[in-house]
Amino acid sequence: MNPDIPNSIIQGDCIDVLKSFPSDSIDVAFADPPFNLNKGYRSTNDALKTQKYLEWCEQWLIELVRLTKPGGSVFVHNIPKWLTHFSAILNPIADFKHWIAWDAATNPMGKTLQPAHYGILCYSKKSGKQKFYEIRHPHKRCRKCGYLMKDYGGKKRLLHPFGPLLSDIWTDIHRIRHKKYRDDHPCQLPVHLLERIILMSSDEGDVVLDPFLGTGTTAIAAKKLGRKYIGIELDEEYVRVSRSKVDETASDSKLGEAWVSFFLNEPITIRNIDWEILKKHFAIPSPAEAVDYCKCMARGSIHKRKTVNNKLVQQEKLEFEKELESLAGSPHKNS
Ligand SMILES: C[S@@+](CC[C@H](N)C(=O)[O-])C[C@H]1O[C@@H](n2cnc3c(N)ncnc32)[C@H](O)[C@@H]1O
Repeated sequence: MNPDIPNSIIQGDCIDVLKSFPSDSIDVAFADPPFNLNKGYRSTNDALKTQKYLEWCEQWLIELVRLTKPGGSVFVHNIPKWLTHFSAILNPIADFKHWIAWDAATNPMGKTLQPAHYGILCYSKKSGKQKFYEIRHPHKRCRKCGYLMKDYGGKKRLLHPFGPLLSDIWTDIHRIRHKKYRDDHPCQLPVHLLERIILMSSDEGDVVLDPFLGTGTTAIAAKKLGRKYIGIELDEEYVRVSRSKVDETASDSKLGEAWVSFFLNEPITIRNIDWEILKKHFAIPSPAEAVDYCKCMARGSIHKRKTVNNKLVQQEKLEFEKELESLAGSPHKNS
């Protein structure tokens, strides 16, 4: 790999650009192509005949696998209809690992069995053990009362204080709905979705490639997490927006020594192997079963703990607040 290439955003047709890269040079590839749903991209025809769309997809999918290092990961985001075809292309040349269902909280209005999730295929380049890290996310809680949504019965004290290991159904990351938070682009992904994927599949300094960069989401996530990035995007204006956003991004998404992903100033994705070095930055509910109604909070968090007073034993409440006080200071970086 040309050492000048990482940390760049290249304007051009991704197939031409990908063909110019050497094999086995990328740690993680993430592709979020046009879904052929007739969206209003500035420079792309998003309403191709099925056969034409699939032939085009086959070309860049094969390139992504070629470029990825053995044991590196290829992620592809799309609607289930196209992912079934993509799997048929990828299965002979890479190892299937996961189909992640991203329930991006759309309104199921219209018809029965309307697609309500996007899929994210995860493949690993053959002849290498996949680089993959276990991920934890915060326990799901009732927004009103703060209690755990799931009933763990007598097993609460065995729960991890921060939260469970992530399954392949992701329900805690929403699409960017409000116009004021979006760029002028029809399909911008949330940065913390990409941060989760990157934390799961790469280490600091690894190279993350996105051949359909849009307005820069993957490059921003990679930079925030101390990874290198290569973005390719056809449209000049989207490239301009990406470059300016990436320039303003700092590599600072850390809690102490560990890279983590924040949303609204709270850690939303951590790596399990980092817990030992991370836990000193959290106020951990005590006794252990208090996890049922006490959030494990990072110091500096702007969020108030939600509790149900009549259930929270006064003594525990005081202890928890004392612990919070003693942890005050050293605010972590914003998302
Ligand atoms: C679904 S969007 C990606 C959005 C991106 N994930 C984000 O969060 O901003 C697909 C992008 O691919 C770009 N695109 C389409 N055809 C392309 C091609 N042949 N080469 C490079 N980019 C292309 C479009 O301009 C569009 O911005």
